[in-house]
Amino acid sequence: MDNNYNESRRPKKRVTKKMAQRRRLIALAVMVLILILGIVLICVACSGDDEPSGKKSNTPAVTTTTSVTTMVTTTTTAPVPTADPNDPNTITKIDLSVYEVYLNVGESKMPLVTMTPSSSTEKGEIWESSNKAVATVDWLGNITAVGAGECYVTVTSENNPIIYAEVKVVVTDPNAPAGVTTSATSAQSGMIQQTGQTQTTTAAPAPSGSADVQTVDEVTYIDGILIANKSYGLPADYAPGLDPTTESQFNALSEAAAQEGLNIWLASGYRSYEYQSTIYNNYSSLYGAETADTFSARPGHSEHQTGLAIDVNSIDDSFANTPEAEWLAQHAHEFGFIIRYPQGKQHITGYKYEPWHIRYLGVETATAVYNSGLTLEEYLGIDSVYGN
Ligand code: DAL
Ligand code: ZN
Repeated sequence: MDNNYNESRRPKKRVTKKMAQRRRLIALAVMVLILILGIVLICVACSGDDEPSGKKSNTPAVTTTTSVTTMVTTTTTAPVPTADPNDPNTITKIDLSVYEVYLNVGESKMPLVTMTPSSSTEKGEIWESSNKAVATVDWLGNITAVGAGECYVTVTSENNPIIYAEVKVVVTDPNAPAGVTTSATSAQSGMIQQTGQTQTTTAAPAPSGSADVQTVDEVTYIDGILIANKSYGLPADYAPGLDPTTESQFNALSEAAAQEGLNIWLASGYRSYEYQSTIYNNYSSLYGAETADTFSARPGHSEHQTGLAIDVNSIDDSFANTPEAEWLAQHAHEFGFIIRYPQGKQHITGYKYEPWHIRYLGVETATAVYNSGLTLEEYLGIDSVYGN
């Protein structure tokens, strides 16, 4: 007798029902097991990711790897991703039209952003407020004052998260009782003020000529001109904001250029010590300190911290030889500005040619410097060299 015969003799109907029932039970059990296994795997995978989806984190990225076969979960910490500095789309700098804003509760302001290189196609911005009870900011960079106090609003490059710029926001509540509101710092000028300020005459390095050097609260004036270069620094708490005369003279310059069909705009004005620190450190880590020192001031040594310097238009080599650059070189002094870092004078000013960086000196002094054909360092007989 062969097995086939026996099979054919089995009471087929009863056995098939039982088998079918058993098979259904087994299938159900397998499905329940798969479901439980799936739930366990999902829970394990999620436990390493606390960040809400879509939110950019400033902390190092965490990668969770789950092996299904061995059920082992490993977690590794990766460095903060940095963009390739050789990629022409990599953002290397963010400049803002303002670095301090003073608002009453309910008022809004939107700083203009300039990302370098201007040719980059990846100029995504991420805006954040350090204190939403003081000011909020939307995804476009529109800052709205909420309550009295101070906070910082930061814009970070989506393409290169180590590059960011920040705006100090000072909010006043006009309806608050007297003494509770905060107020903006007072206006200042680039020329020395003979007020009740403490004066010393010895802290700054002596210039080579017979110039008059005065140091007022750690700020150096040479022949009455506030000076910030590699030799002469500013204290970290020197934070005057953009000088109002510098701003209004720049507006006059921009309007005069517009009369001739040219577009000259403020790309970077006042920069705080802290912000310059961020810029300089970013450049240092990208290019090394020695190279960064040729085009970026160390914190406490930038003219932008004086509130008397402005970068116009594209802050890169593409600005040179534009009609705007040529007009600026010929007419800036008529409005009280000089091209501060002229071509071929790096060994004197300490910085490469910056046709976009202008310094306010007042019309008389700027015209005298322009007519002399000298840099400000040569004109005043001073150096621009770091002490260390
Ligand atoms: N680029 C100029 C030198 C500055 O950083 O102030
Ligand atoms: Zn500049």
